Amino acid sequence: MKLVKHIANLGYGSRKDVQWLFREGRITDADGEVLYADDNVDPATVRIDGAPLDPPPGMLLMLHKPVGYTCSTKDQGRLVYDLLPARYRLRSPALSTVGRLDRDTSGLLLLTDDGQLLHRIIAPKSKLPKVYLAQLAQDLRGDEVALFASGTLLLESEQTPLLPAELEVLGPREARLTLHEGRYHQVRRMFAAVGNHVVTLHRERIGGLGLGSLEAGQWRPLGEEARNTLFSVSE
Ligand code: URA
Repeated sequence: MKLVKHIANLGYGSRKDVQWLFREGRITDADGEVLYADDNVDPATVRIDGAPLDPPPGMLLMLHKPVGYTCSTKDQGRLVYDLLPARYRLRSPALSTVGRLDRDTSGLLLLTDDGQLLHRIIAPKSKLPKVYLAQLAQDLRGDEVALFASGTLLLESEQTPLLPAELEVLGPREARLTLHEGRYHQVRRMFAAVGNHVVTLHRERIGGLGLGSLEAGQWRPLGEEARNTLFSVSE
């Protein structure tokens, strides 16, 4: 791919904007030698204003989503993309959230521009466990562990029962729930089905990946090792 197109696809601007960056001498090689738009060089050696280019397509990153941010590119209000470098929203292929967390849910959110990888993570057959910590408005009744594990729980307006899910009771109004699928508002609807209400919800893990020391609002790119960790736990 032509360098101009590659750089434009990374969100640095339109192809015209990128042509200007070349004309202004702001695009160089690693030694500071000015590059021209028709030069044929490895993008890994290219610098813009002295800084390496953003990663090429094939990105996977982990964000610690804070409460109050929406998993959308164009909703009103705070968007998860506001927490990333502004250029990332302009990339092609687009950087998409891997599934969604509700605006009022915090925790581990993955984003990728790799369609196959996205599919592999969210496809029902991957059954990657997703672990949520929920604070509840009412005391647990006592039958939730068995009901959620039964594989027979039917959510309102659905025809297929939920897959068995593991509920770990941490306190009268606190529980950890592990799901192996991802239906719309699933955790909130499961607790609603047993007459309860989720007050706060936080996703702790997807597959083998946890947030580690990442604070709310922070993100980090994930390399090969983290990808393997992600898929190291299934079922
Ligand atoms: N289940 C929910 O109800 N909300 C989320 O954000 C994620 C899972």
